[in-house]
Amino acid sequence: MGSSIKKAVIPAAGLGTRFLPVTRSVSKVMLPVFNIPTIDFAVAELKKSGINSVAIVVSTLNYDIQKYFESASDMQIEFILQKEPNGLGDAILQSEKWVDGESFCVILPDDLIIGETSTIEQMISIHSSNNTAVLALKSVEDERVPFLGIVESQQIDISTHRIIKCVEKPKLEDAPSNLAIIGRYIFTNDIFKYIKQTTKGALGEIQITDAINAQATEKDVYGYQFPEEHFDTGNPSGLLEASIGYALKHPEKAPGLIRFIKSLNL
Ligand code: G1P
Repeated sequence: MGSSIKKAVIPAAGLGTRFLPVTRSVSKVMLPVFNIPTIDFAVAELKKSGINSVAIVVSTLNYDIQKYFESASDMQIEFILQKEPNGLGDAILQSEKWVDGESFCVILPDDLIIGETSTIEQMISIHSSNNTAVLALKSVEDERVPFLGIVESQQIDISTHRIIKCVEKPKLEDAPSNLAIIGRYIFTNDIFKYIKQTTKGALGEIQITDAINAQATEKDVYGYQFPEEHFDTGNPSGLLEASIGYALKHPEKAPGLIRFIKSLNL
């Protein structure tokens, strides 16, 4: 059976301030996990799931991404300009015309998921059965809670939840749970309507979590708690952890690195 999701949006317009100074001239999504840019992992994950039509939302500074994908002839890659940074909700809204009425998926390249099974494919299957939005969820440590969207949910089975509400980057004491939204989303097309109704939220930006909340008050929104390993590459030490995690899974690529880590005797 062909996938019901044919299009994906990759927001990649972020300025990458946590990676300064390198992001003065290199886009954050071009920073490598081992030797592969994080955005390449996102595109490869989509390709594996049968999605070959991708829109990358960029800012004017992102010519390096366009150059990188110039020769990726097996993927249809469009670039969409976000004129100024105004939050994830606004970045996704820029793709409305391109998405053209369909349900679609969003991958945040900061969130690297490595595993045997495909998180996106599981999410597409939940979407296909219920025709709802689906968010990727993972239980996180207390110290990660203030940096993520956190959900209040009702568990349906071992890995599926019905979302009651999301709170964007709450203080730990205000968080409804430790279940965080990780950067994989399947959206029904009406998400654009909810984004347009959204006013500036956390950090003075248009937050996708606010739009999801509005949608969840009117219809079902599901969450999929995925078992695969997740790395947050959105900060320098997370990116380094991801490189080491990736190298340990591909020992043939990194025998020297593995010898070095073992020699540390931590
Ligand atoms: C975004 C979302 C947040 C989500 C996170 C996952 O935050 O707003 O809800 O938990 O991605 O990585 P950002 O990392 O862009 O600040």
